[in-house]
Amino acid sequence: MVHSWRSEFDFDKIVSDLEEETFINANINPDNPGRVWQTKHTLHKDERFKEITEFFNVCLEEYRTFYEFECERFDISICWGNYSPAFKQGKHGVHTHPMSYISGIYYLTEGSPTMFEDPVYQRREGLIKLYSVDPNKTPEAWGMIPEPGKLLIFPSWLKHGTLPHTADYARWSISFNAIPVGPCNSQSSESKLACWNVYHAD
Ligand SMILES: [Fe+2]
Repeated sequence: MVHSWRSEFDFDKIVSDLEEETFINANINPDNPGRVWQTKHTLHKDERFKEITEFFNVCLEEYRTFYEFECERFDISICWGNYSPAFKQGKHGVHTHPMSYISGIYYLTEGSPTMFEDPVYQRREGLIKLYSVDPNKTPEAWGMIPEPGKLLIFPSWLKHGTLPHTADYARWSISFNAIPVGPCNSQSSESKLACWNVYHAD
């Protein structure tokens, strides 16, 4: 369900480019614990992130061909940076990515794990629950440990979040959403979709 790839880039350079961005929630006190900062959502249109966006597109095409999906390709609709300062316990609450088919997380640093939630409700709410002393090893959710260069692509409906980032260094990642574009299900007799496209405001 969660596919992964690896690619090396100049992570220090990418982080310094992201540090120049205006953060969407910059009006909120940066000293507040628990906060994760986000950049603008158009990194995929920014020349500075061209190479990394090309890598994402290659992986999206591999994902499409793996499942032999009937669409022209997957297009990134939004792409943004995530920043959890050192020591501040920044965490993403459990969430999905609406208005998206598949999503990706690309890690630029190490940091607190991303936790994916078991989508089968009955398995999570069994009458007998056993807990692990390691929060990364519960059967109801599984953790992906960030490593610089690791990309995860997963269905956008899959619930996920992050554990509080408490380390003495900042945690950085880039996320994106993507949808199928072009004629969809053109060879299928059922559930034909019209030709989809990403809306570009500019
Ligand atoms: Fe997310």
